[in-house]
Amino acid sequence: MVGERTSTAREWEEQARNWVVWVRRPGFDSYWRYRDRFFELVPAAGRATLDLGCGEGRVARDLAARGHQVTGVDASPTLVEAARGADPEGRYLVADSADLPFPDGGFDLVVAYNVLMDVDDLPGTVREIGRVLEPGGGLCLSITHPITNTGSRRDGVFVLDRPYFGRHRFEEEVERDGMRMRFTGWNHPLSAYTAALEDTGLLIEALREPQVTGDAFPWHLWIRAVRPR
Ligand SMILES: C[S@@+](CC[C@H](N)C(=O)[O-])C[C@H]1O[C@@H](n2cnc3c(N)ncnc32)[C@H](O)[C@@H]1O
Repeated sequence: MVGERTSTAREWEEQARNWVVWVRRPGFDSYWRYRDRFFELVPAAGRATLDLGCGEGRVARDLAARGHQVTGVDASPTLVEAARGADPEGRYLVADSADLPFPDGGFDLVVAYNVLMDVDDLPGTVREIGRVLEPGGGLCLSITHPITNTGSRRDGVFVLDRPYFGRHRFEEEVERDGMRMRFTGWNHPLSAYTAALEDTGLLIEALREPQVTGDAFPWHLWIRAVRPR
């Protein structure tokens, strides 16, 4: 169990029911357009894969469909319950990303899909990823592209109107097609993510700005990193 749930984790728990509806409507959010390209970055199934910040479990289910032995972890008990409901054979646990209940080197792959900008403790989370990865193990992550921190879309044009550097809280209430969701987390510059990887000794192998179906702007940033042997 998560003892003191962090503030963003508490907000995700409050939004959990909205999130389940949001992500389970086929084709609705961006995951449906990006996931095949993202999985091209993910190594073949090995011994044990951790889906960090698994939410209601869609990435874990997609990894399992590709042969991975997956453990899903999320700070939201409601989302973990939803993940178990959709995949009763799967292994899903409630835990904080900066305090993982796993032994050193317990996984050969960690996947963190759109999670690191949401956690309250980015360096602590990346340290834990490094700890639970075995030497030679990999990390595949997606974040919202840090450039999206700096502005918003207006009349189809992206307008830069906020500072890029620094750590700033974001909160965005979105209502679309009768569904409602409040997104909360942290804006960090790209260098905050690379510094966390560097401090943990994880080496970047690949960095992608995916462009699908005519995107004019990089909405996501994907990184594959490795813990050296
Ligand atoms: C944008 S959702 C992504 C969920 C899932 N990876 C997906 O793509 O469907 C972010 C997730 O991070 C989780 N989260 C936020 N803070 C966390 C923390 N400190 N420890 C573990 N999970 C956390 C939230 O509960 C939420 O499920």
